Amino acid sequence: MTTDQTPRVTMEEITALAKRRGFIFQSSEIYGGIGGFFDYGPLGAILKRNVKDAWWREMVELRDDIVAFDSSIVMHPSTWIASGHVANFSDKMVDCKNCKHRFRADHIPSLERCPDCGLKDTLTEPRAFNLMLQTSIGPLEDSASRAYLRPETAQGMFVNFKNIYQSARKRPPFGIAQIGKSFRNEITPGNFTYRMREFEQAELEYFVPDDGADIVAYERWVAARKKWYSDYGVREERLRFYELTDKERPHYAKAGTDVEYLFPWGWGELESIAHRGTYDLDAHMQLSGKDLTYFDEASKSKYTPILIESSAGMDRTTLTMLVDAYHNETVRDAESEKTTSRVVLRFHPKIAPVQVGVFPLARNKSELTERARTIERALRPYFRTQYDEGNVGQLYRRQDEIGTPLCIMVDYDSLADGTVTVRDRDSMLQDRIAATQLRAFLAERLEAGS
Ligand code: GAP
Repeated sequence: MTTDQTPRVTMEEITALAKRRGFIFQSSEIYGGIGGFFDYGPLGAILKRNVKDAWWREMVELRDDIVAFDSSIVMHPSTWIASGHVANFSDKMVDCKNCKHRFRADHIPSLERCPDCGLKDTLTEPRAFNLMLQTSIGPLEDSASRAYLRPETAQGMFVNFKNIYQSARKRPPFGIAQIGKSFRNEITPGNFTYRMREFEQAELEYFVPDDGADIVAYERWVAARKKWYSDYGVREERLRFYELTDKERPHYAKAGTDVEYLFPWGWGELESIAHRGTYDLDAHMQLSGKDLTYFDEASKSKYTPILIESSAGMDRTTLTMLVDAYHNETVRDAESEKTTSRVVLRFHPKIAPVQVGVFPLARNKSELTERARTIERALRPYFRTQYDEGNVGQLYRRQDEIGTPLCIMVDYDSLADGTVTVRDRDSMLQDRIAATQLRAFLAERLEAGS
């Protein structure tokens, strides 16, 4: 295995590209932005959807032991008491009495000196800050109307455990999957979309019988998640599966693995996979007084299933796809022998926002533009296509920068003999193909790159 630990790109370059090409914008930018919130632009919205679809396909559609779910963002406040979030979901923060900046105590090198203004002994004592975002329900704002925006999607699946297994007629081992927004009032959001206050999670809650095979189920999930990242092209050498030690895991968890990616600033968590025992169902049974055990018809006995959880951040995974795909290359033109540089995003074809770009050689020749538009429309039901026109060099440059795997050029020969040029993003090699064969050719090439 080759090692490739040197970052290919800085976060400044990623942020600039994301804005220039319409992947990600700062939220409410015209008002100066709002810390920890981001908007996905025309290409970013597709990129993130492709990442979520890839997760959903693997975790729900291709399995018969996992059911879909979509719970509300605001839940009964008791949910968060039972889950422990009201009492414990906090980070320690410190304020600088001089520059008034606020920091997460575990994110700064020393509590003696302010990392921003540099003054000594100006930081307050660390104190707990609950990360749940609050809202209030109904016309009166008092403690009785207080509610929270969920800090994870998982609890919706726990409190519905009985509704789900009974209505879907499932028995452990089986899982519940959900993708949705979560909110955390992070003290210091940052690193672009890595630490946000509003973000999306894809969570799988997999319930297994208490028959001793729980660790095997956990290990299977770690392996399945490893395969998922590799199937979508995330470079192995920049991904690690860090096994939590006894000290790092909560007391009730038998095992835990953090999936981490080597971002330009260092390793960052993308997903946590955990063996959580019966902790979550037990906590809700205790506070609600309702039975959330599984009743096994065959043996006429009931038990609380053990939970294996995989919880992945969709924004962090999308950011990983952008960073991991980024290449800045020097290329040599075979004819002129000139060298130029190009930025290319080598997205996996299933993740790429545009799979096939279609252009005419000249924008002012209606025979060419009409033929190119006809070809693009014919391919649209089968691939994510985009028609564009303009200077040929700039068109390729743009499609490379947005990570389009294949581009079709319609020229004068196309009008004469019905063939087109197909250019490969990565090799930049070109093939001459009959337009009638395009659909099969593109399908094969996009599949081959997958
Ligand atoms: N239900 C388990 C749970 O929520 P977590 O480790 O707190 O576990 C899971 O969160 C994933 O959610 C993280 O690995 C990360 O990808 C994502 N995530 C958590 N906080 C985030 C934030 N502030 N911004 C973006 N993604 C976040």
